[in-house]
Amino acid sequence: MSSFDKIIDANLIGQRALISKVLHSSQMFDADALEIKGRMIRFGDNWVADFASCNYLGFDLNEEIIASVEPALRKWGVHPSWCRLVASPNLYTQAEEQFSELIGSEDVLILPTVTLISIGVVPALMGQDGVMFLDKSAHMTMYEAAKMARDSGSKLISFNHNDYDVLEEGLKQHRDNPKKLIMVDGAYSMTGNYIHVPTIVELAKKYNAIVYIDDAHGFGVVGENPDENLPYGYKGNGVVRHFDYDYDNILYVGGLSKAYSSLAAFISCDKKMKSYIKAYATPYDLSGPCPTASLQSILTGLVVNEKHGDVFRKKLYHLSKQAIDGLREMGFYMDNNTYYPIISVWIGDTDYLIQTAKILWDNQILVTLAPYPMVKKGQETLRITITAANTEHEIQILLQAFQKVKHYLLEMQAPLQPGLVP
Ligand SMILES: Cc1ncc(COP(=O)(O)O)c(C=O)c1O
Repeated sequence: MSSFDKIIDANLIGQRALISKVLHSSQMFDADALEIKGRMIRFGDNWVADFASCNYLGFDLNEEIIASVEPALRKWGVHPSWCRLVASPNLYTQAEEQFSELIGSEDVLILPTVTLISIGVVPALMGQDGVMFLDKSAHMTMYEAAKMARDSGSKLISFNHNDYDVLEEGLKQHRDNPKKLIMVDGAYSMTGNYIHVPTIVELAKKYNAIVYIDDAHGFGVVGENPDENLPYGYKGNGVVRHFDYDYDNILYVGGLSKAYSSLAAFISCDKKMKSYIKAYATPYDLSGPCPTASLQSILTGLVVNEKHGDVFRKKLYHLSKQAIDGLREMGFYMDNNTYYPIISVWIGDTDYLIQTAKILWDNQILVTLAPYPMVKKGQETLRITITAANTEHEIQILLQAFQKVKHYLLEMQAPLQPGLVP
C-alpha cells in the first residue's frame, strides 16, 4: 500500500466514505464534456440538455462578451500576475466603480471568488474575540470561513434557517460584544428562496450587529422594484436592493461566477472598510488576481446587463415558472417560493436519487445531484438550474424526462413528496 493510499484510506471514514461511494455511482459526477452547442452538451456520443449550469443570464455564450475578450488580452496579456496588494490593471478600478453604482454602495472590493472573500474578510473582522451567528442553511464556504475565525478564538453560534428567536437570544447574550456578525445567504443555493432582508437587518440593528450576505446566486438575477411582470425585480442588483434596503449595517457579497459567467466576486464596503480589508484580509495581499478574460467579461457583462439584462431575466423567469409549474402538476415537491431558477426536486433517498439520475441521463438531461451526506438524510434532491440560454424545447424535454422519473417512483411505491405515502 502506497503512502498516498494509506492517507486516503485513513480519511475514508464516516460521511467522507459515503461521499466517495456516491461520487462513483452516477454518470452525472465528473462527466467529461467534449463539446457544447448552446445549452446542449456532448459527453461521448450522447448530447444532453444542460440543467446544471449557473450561467443564469447566458453570458457564457454572449457574442458581445466573447468578442470583447481578445482585445483586452492584446492590451493586458492573459494574466496580471501581481497580487492586488502590489498593483491591479485598471480593469479592476472600472469594474469596482460600476458595481458600486449598480448596487448603490459607497464602494466595493473585487477578489477572484466568494470563497476567498469569506475566508479573508470574516476572520479579519472577527479577530480573536468576535461572535458569529451562522445560518445553518448558508453556504458551506461561509462555514469554512467561520471555522477559521473560530480557530483564532472567536465564537461561532449556528441557528436554524429563519429561526429568529434563537438568533435574537444569542444576540442578546452577546449584546456587549462590539464584534457581532450574522452570516446568511442572499438567494439560497438549494432552494432559490431569499433571505428576508428587512427582518434580519432590523434584528441586527437592534443589537448593533453586522449582516454578512453571500449573494453568490442572487446577484445578476434578483434586483430592485419587483413587480408582477418581473418578480425577481430589475437590473439584477441583488437581494438588498430587492427589499429596498441600503448598506448601513450590511456587507453584501456578489458572486460573478454564476450570472456574470466569470471568475470574480465583490464585497460592498465604505472607503474605511475597504482600506481595512486591504490591510487585514490575506487573499488581497497574497493570492493571485482574476485573469484578464474574467475582468473584461464582467465589464462587458455590465454593458450587456444594462442593455438587455431585464429581457434575459424575464425569459429566465418564464422558463423557470414553466418548469416549476409543470413539475408541481406532476406531483413533485420543491421548496421554492420565488420562481428563482434553482429547482431542487425532492427525492428523499440516495438509492432512488441514483436511479432517477440514470433515467434523466438516459433521456438527455443533466442536473446536479444532491445526495446524503451533502444534504441531510431524507432531503436528497435532483437540483435543476435554468438559464436564459435554455430553450422552451429543452424545458419540454426536461418535463418529459421527469414524467419517466415519476413513473419509476410510483412503480417503486416511493413517495413524490416528503411525508406522503403513495
Ligand atoms: C452561496 C454560495 N456561496 C459561495 C459559493 C462559492 O463561490 P465561489 O466559487 O465564487 O467561491 C457558491 C458556489 O456555488 C455558492 O453557491
